[in-house]
Amino acid sequence: MLKKTLIAVSAIPLTTLALTSCGSDSAAGGTDDDGTITMGFAQVGAESGWRTANTKSIQETAEAEGIDLKFSDAQQKQENQIKAIRSYIQQKVDIIAFSPVVETGWDTVLLEAKRAGIPVILTDRAVDSEDTSLYETFLGSDFVLEGEKAGEWLVENAAEADVDGDGDVNVVELQGTTGAAPAIDRKTGFESAIAADDSISIGASQTGDFTRDGGKKVMEAFLKSEDGIDVVFAHNDDMGLGAIEAIEAAGLTPGKDVKIITIDAVKDGMAALAEGKISFIVECNPLLGPQLMDLAKKVLAGEEVPERVVTEETTFTQEQAKEVLPERQY
Ligand code: AHR
Repeated sequence: MLKKTLIAVSAIPLTTLALTSCGSDSAAGGTDDDGTITMGFAQVGAESGWRTANTKSIQETAEAEGIDLKFSDAQQKQENQIKAIRSYIQQKVDIIAFSPVVETGWDTVLLEAKRAGIPVILTDRAVDSEDTSLYETFLGSDFVLEGEKAGEWLVENAAEADVDGDGDVNVVELQGTTGAAPAIDRKTGFESAIAADDSISIGASQTGDFTRDGGKKVMEAFLKSEDGIDVVFAHNDDMGLGAIEAIEAAGLTPGKDVKIITIDAVKDGMAALAEGKISFIVECNPLLGPQLMDLAKKVLAGEEVPERVVTEETTFTQEQAKEVLPERQY
C-alpha cells in the first residue's frame, strides 16, 4: 500500500528540481509500531487564500495517505510556531514540518528537534540559518524568481503602465510580512528586474502582512500620501484585492487608472485578473501536500532526499486567466 501511494505521488507533474542531495542521518524518528507516520505540522496561519489552499492540500493528502497529522495554526506569530514545535517534540512525533513565519530565530528549537532525533522538513518558506543540518529538505517556491517575473512583465509593459503619461512609472509596493522569506525575496527579485528600466521606480513600500485588510489599509494611505501612482506591486493576491477595494473607494478604476501586479494566482485573484482589475499575476503554487508527504516517507525510510525541492510555477495574463478560471481548483 505504501509502495502504491509513492508511485501515485511521484506521478504528480507539479515540481521538482533537485539542486544537491543530502542524507537523512538525523532521521532517528521512525513510524509507529503499526507503520503509521505521525507528522506535526506548524502552519503560519490563515492569512490568505493561498494559505487556506495550502492547509487543505496538506490535510487532505495526509488523510488520503493514512498519515496521522497533528496540525497547528500559529496566527502569524513566531512564538506560537515555536511552542507548537516544542509540543510536537514532547509528543515524540515521527517527523515535523513547518512553514516558518519569518526567516530568522529558529536555530534553538530546530536543535532541540535534532537532539530528540526528530527530522524536520521546511515547506513553503525557508529559514535563515547557517546550519543546514537542522532540517532535511526545503520544499517550496523560488520567491526571488517570482519577484523577477513580476518586474520583467512591468519592464516589458512600461509604456502602458505609465497611466498618467508623465514618462515615469511610479510603483507602490505592498510587502508581505516583515522578515518573511517571500517578502524579502520577492522585493529583491522585483527590484533587480525593474533596474533594467530607469523610468520605473518604487515611490513607497510598506507591509500589508499578506492580508486583504492590510493591503486595503496601506493602499488607502498610499492614495493619500503619493502623487501619480501608476502601478501597485502586491506581494500576494489578497493584498492586491484589498488595494482594489481602496482604489475603487477613491473613485478610481483598477486596471485603468492604476495597474496592479500580484503573486499567487488563487481563484479570487484570477477572477480579478479576468475582469481586468489586475493586470498580471505570477503563480505561487500552494498544493504542496503530495510532495511533502512523499518527502516525509522517504526521510523516515532513510532514503536520500534533495536538499532543495523547487515548485514549478507559471504566470498569467488577463487572457490566460479567462481561459483557466473555470477549472481553477483553489
Ligand atoms: O509563503 C507564501 C505566501 O504566504 C503566499 O504568497 C501568501 O499568499 C501567503 O500568505
